[in-house]
Amino acid sequence: MRICMIGTGYVGLVTGCGLAEFGMKVTCVDKVTEKIAMLKRGEIPIYEPGLKDLVEKNVKEGRLSFSTDIPEAIRNNLVVFLAVGTPSDDGGGADLRYLFDAVDEIARNLNGYKVIAIKSTVPVGTAKRVSRRIAGRVEGAAFDVVSNPEFLREGSAVEDFLHPDRVVIGTESEQAIAIMKDIYSPLYLIETPFVITNNETAEMIKYAANTFLAAKISYINEVANICELVGADVHVVARAMGLDGRISRKFLHPGPGFGGSCFPKDTRALYHLAREKGYDPALIGSVIRVNENQKTRMVEKVKRRVGGDLSGKVIGVLGVSFKPNTDDIRESPAIFVIQRLLDAGAKVQAFDPAALGEARKVFGDAITYAANAYEVAQGADAIVLMTEWNQFRSLDLQELKGRMKTPVFVDTRNVYDPRKMEQAGFAYEGVGR
Ligand code: UGA
Repeated sequence: MRICMIGTGYVGLVTGCGLAEFGMKVTCVDKVTEKIAMLKRGEIPIYEPGLKDLVEKNVKEGRLSFSTDIPEAIRNNLVVFLAVGTPSDDGGGADLRYLFDAVDEIARNLNGYKVIAIKSTVPVGTAKRVSRRIAGRVEGAAFDVVSNPEFLREGSAVEDFLHPDRVVIGTESEQAIAIMKDIYSPLYLIETPFVITNNETAEMIKYAANTFLAAKISYINEVANICELVGADVHVVARAMGLDGRISRKFLHPGPGFGGSCFPKDTRALYHLAREKGYDPALIGSVIRVNENQKTRMVEKVKRRVGGDLSGKVIGVLGVSFKPNTDDIRESPAIFVIQRLLDAGAKVQAFDPAALGEARKVFGDAITYAANAYEVAQGADAIVLMTEWNQFRSLDLQELKGRMKTPVFVDTRNVYDPRKMEQAGFAYEGVGR
């Protein structure tokens, strides 16, 4: 089976490469020439564990290639996947500009029956809009639009692709279902559950799943904030809650609020969509608000610990990516916190194992970039741990303290044990304990 993947961002690249690993012949295309040039040189534009080896292997074995010739790739392939970005628009909805640009390119190059599989996260109703758009442009066009949402987590995307919890296929066309099942047949063999439904339901599944996970995080963050007021330990609360199989332990880790390219955008998009249809989604609105407030609370913790005034204070920030094992800083709580610290007149010195290059694009010379965690501590009035990279889990506390002006440690990911930190001589504060 021959597949074309339009968009070689995070989702497109991992999916294209994963499908090649399943034995498909995949051409990944993008209009950003520099990105394609990098991939052709064997360089990976994003930080994702395991991806480089998989790309290398599939290129070498002749199943994976890269190109900027989008028209040719559409004409040469039976299945065209769409994995272009759908960022938030000004009103909080999804901006479908890139998606419709790609769809128009497909319409111009439709040289026979094609399956158009939408991987990008799109508002419910988009697949039908895509169908109408192509039908309106090409008389007698033969194609099916399949909604095939992705559930990849950054940092473990390769593993998630090869061993997913489920595959969702949204279409009412028997022919398209058969083609999609064929593409994912290696998963069929390992008994991965397949959910086959209509386009709207498949589109809704993606938003409902992401919003539910985001809701779990906002819920535990809210519980953590209450724990702080009543002297309870949120970790024990979360663990005991999670032992109830109906609740499950996953996604009950309190922190500085969820970030990344998905949860913030998707919760806003579902909220926006519901309101557009005349329904006020009160719970989803609260999930978003709790998350915004949580980020601000982290800044307040630091401010309180340095005596109520951040002006002129040196704050060391450990981690800027929105989670470990990625260089992605989109909507990272760390970026929000650093900006607020700067606004309040603090001097920020930050370190991240992968994302300092991205941080530099945002902050330029406004902050100092440290070479390691200990440099972050140099002369600092406080350290704030924002991302739970493994290398921050076993820092030499005495070395760290020795370099600081005052040993204040705000741990927004609850990586350290409060008692041990106090024994080590730190004024320590976590979240909800
Ligand atoms: C998320 C979903 O987990 C994927 O299933 C989905 O496919 C993806 O969005 C997407 O829509 O493309 P991702 O954004 O990569 O994946 O990262 P997560 O691991 O879900 O973390 C999101 C944010 O929530 C991070 O900022 C993380 O620190 C935070 N989080 C997560 C918590 O604060 N507590 C938790 O218990 C879990």
